[in-house]
Amino acid sequence: MLLKGKLVAIPTETVYGLAANALDEKAVLSIFEAKQRPFFDPLIVHVHSIEIAKKYADFNDERLLKLAETFWPGPLTLLLPKKEIIPGLVTSGLAKVAVRIPNHSLTLELLKKTDLPLAAPSANPFGYVSPTEPGHVAKQLGDKIDYILDGGRSAVGLESTIAGIEDGNVCIYRLGGLAIEDIEKVIGKVELRINNSSDPKAPGQLKNHYAPSKPLFIGNLSKGLKDHAGKRIAMICFGEEPVPAQNIKVFNLSKEKNLNEAALNLFKFLRLADESKVDCVLCELLPDEGLGRAINDRLRRAAAK
Ligand code: TXA
Ligand code: MG
Repeated sequence: MLLKGKLVAIPTETVYGLAANALDEKAVLSIFEAKQRPFFDPLIVHVHSIEIAKKYADFNDERLLKLAETFWPGPLTLLLPKKEIIPGLVTSGLAKVAVRIPNHSLTLELLKKTDLPLAAPSANPFGYVSPTEPGHVAKQLGDKIDYILDGGRSAVGLESTIAGIEDGNVCIYRLGGLAIEDIEKVIGKVELRINNSSDPKAPGQLKNHYAPSKPLFIGNLSKGLKDHAGKRIAMICFGEEPVPAQNIKVFNLSKEKNLNEAALNLFKFLRLADESKVDCVLCELLPDEGLGRAINDRLRRAAAK
């Protein structure tokens, strides 16, 4: 199917992707159409080896090569100078292309068998929460895509961390499934340039990405319960649970306060809370360390108007 320019949802360790042959402009166009994604928001190209990545991008910085060698396959995307062969549509006309090797055996096998670079954004309608299970994809995009490759539940649950070089420094453009602390252990201090705008010159996540349809409030949970007394509430917590009460649905990201487990549950719980018969969703921020930083980033965006 991919060889014929069709769309296939692929499992990765971070989230499910909506994939097409990155070298086939028509196929890439249909990704944007299926997702209702604006053309100024570029796509990540997935490959199965560093050697293949070098066919599509220049590894002109040793620190990025070191990161690739250390963390690929894994939840890390690198922004690298693109080679001619990658269509401008994939990068929204930018000179750099985002590349990663995903860590999922089925998708790695698919990449090897087809020998194609696969352009794939997260397989959700533009602006909504990313899918971590095949059922999430089927529910929202099922009628728009040709095949969903079922690879079970994504093992990390947050999109990849995006890194690149700017002004000679390694910069992080999106917090994600690879913790900054792990990156810094390998190449030293990095700069955070987390983008909150929809400026076409500097693509990145929109401030209100991950927006559920129900209002979501961040803050102290006990206070939130008082403020929203009388409403039907879904609550996303971490560790301690509030005293059970009527009209409250509790989603505990991790009873043991494990940040990896919380990452794994986050998008599923955001969806479940959103689908519940409640008036609003309350949640609290997690410790700002490890994957907690990426989780907090997603919660803040989900809460943004
Ligand atoms: O984990 C992931 O990264 C998943 C899986 C499927 O690989 N993909 C994913 O793709 O999250 P998407 O399209 O939902 O998010 C990609 C982000 C967007 O914020 C986009 O603006 C940024 O990467 N991006 C892609 N190419 C870029 C480029 N050339 N320059 C700057 N930002 C880029
Ligand atoms: Mg996305």
